[in-house]
Amino acid sequence: MALAHERVFGQRAAPSALPSSSGYKAYIETYGCQMNFADSELVAGILQTTGYGFTQYPQEADLILINTCAIREHAEEKIWQRLKYFQSLKRLRPHLIVGVLGCMAERLKKKLLEEAAVVDLVAGPDSYRHLPQLIRQVEGGTKAIHVLLSREETYADIAPLRLSPYRVSAYISIMRGCNNMCSFCIVPFTRGRERSRAWHTIVQEVQALAEAGYREITLLGQNVDSYNDGGIRFAQLLAKVAEAAPQVWIRFATSHPKDMGDEVLETIATYPNLTPYIHLPVQAGSDTVLQRMNRGYTADWYLQRVEAIRRYLPEAVISTDIIVGFCGETERDFELTLELMRAAQFDFVYQFMYSERPGTLAARRYTDDVPAQVKQERLERVIELAQSLSLQANQRQIGTQQWVLVEKPSRRNPNDMAGRSFAGRAVVVRNAAPSAQPGDILRVQITDATPATLIGYATGHS
Ligand code: SAH
Ligand code: SF4
Ligand code: F3S
Repeated sequence: MALAHERVFGQRAAPSALPSSSGYKAYIETYGCQMNFADSELVAGILQTTGYGFTQYPQEADLILINTCAIREHAEEKIWQRLKYFQSLKRLRPHLIVGVLGCMAERLKKKLLEEAAVVDLVAGPDSYRHLPQLIRQVEGGTKAIHVLLSREETYADIAPLRLSPYRVSAYISIMRGCNNMCSFCIVPFTRGRERSRAWHTIVQEVQALAEAGYREITLLGQNVDSYNDGGIRFAQLLAKVAEAAPQVWIRFATSHPKDMGDEVLETIATYPNLTPYIHLPVQAGSDTVLQRMNRGYTADWYLQRVEAIRRYLPEAVISTDIIVGFCGETERDFELTLELMRAAQFDFVYQFMYSERPGTLAARRYTDDVPAQVKQERLERVIELAQSLSLQANQRQIGTQQWVLVEKPSRRNPNDMAGRSFAGRAVVVRNAAPSAQPGDILRVQITDATPATLIGYATGHS
């Protein structure tokens, strides 16, 4: 299923062959969430200052960095496979340096060096400033590792090198880490304590992106509602960002149901460039499961937040994350998840099977006792319901006119362009190519809908 906010899994991230002063070329591959993608752009910015150029092809790289995710076991399995492939490249290019970055690097630390001979360098999410030194150390003949987490690092002074081939959308991490300790989650261990980036540096970056022609900016944090820079909270940051770039559509993720207050919703309703797209992960519909997950809210509380969103932002698109098969989840618990999905009328659902992560509260305290086959069956039931809710939500858009930001040519038909509506729905604009370019904002008449996509034709230009 295509997703409202496609997650960046396995993105081959590299600007097309930027020249280097040293002649050395780096290749960066990114897995996991949008924050990892944003981090890869910081890493590219850091490498560029040391004279590296970039390539899109690992076969011709002198340095391969793989920015990893540890959220589920499956995410890590993929990385081990890629490391095997990099090993085969190293046989042909013995001087090749291979580094593992990100959450799996932070989780496994020197185990990565011990268990995969191909790995020369390991750097955690707060260690990227040290990459030039670490690379020099490897060039000097020893393996290098830096996995200290920081209470302060926000990379506020580092200019990211934007990796998207289209200068339309950009991510900005406004905070790092997470203090929440949801019992299933590895993120607090891999990304450390929560810290907010200074608001004025965010506003400056937004202005610079607007001047460079970007049309859409997504502000990122594991829990944006707890943003706090010396008393500037998320609602105030949103207002400042909205005012700094009135022509740019501003999105954000992730909101946390226990912290998302009315002030944020009111602010979104006030500024015409703040988009009414809210990603509000619920995880489960049963209060006992939510309590075991340590999420800090009940199903009722969650539904009241959804009601508040619909009240302030009638056009809102609401998406969520759901975990099936968490420790002790009964059939009745699971049915409550389906009930909550129906009550909330989600536009999009991202669903996952529970995957136990070593060292988390759940791994220590509870038993991963739902059989794999039951997890699979519950996942399929969530997908089926999610598809029908998405289809209903999208069908309600037929006959409306919407502003659509054009992102790229459609994969299916080169005459069509793919983009996203203001509220965040994927839209295919028929026969818009070649006159429409990435970055154009079109008025689109919606004529058709699938669960994942709206389909329409352009009636005008902004
Ligand atoms: N900070 C965000 C989400 C971070 S991880 C939040 O609070 O919601 C993204 C999603 O991965 C989570 O929302 C959850 O649904 C899923 N996830 C996290 N840990 C998981 C695990 N151990 N097994 C399965 N899914 C998991
Ligand atoms: Fe993980 Fe919970 Fe933090 Fe999200 S809020 S990153 S799920 S601990
Ligand atoms: Fe993101 Fe995966 Fe780390 S979801 S924060 S890259 S564990």
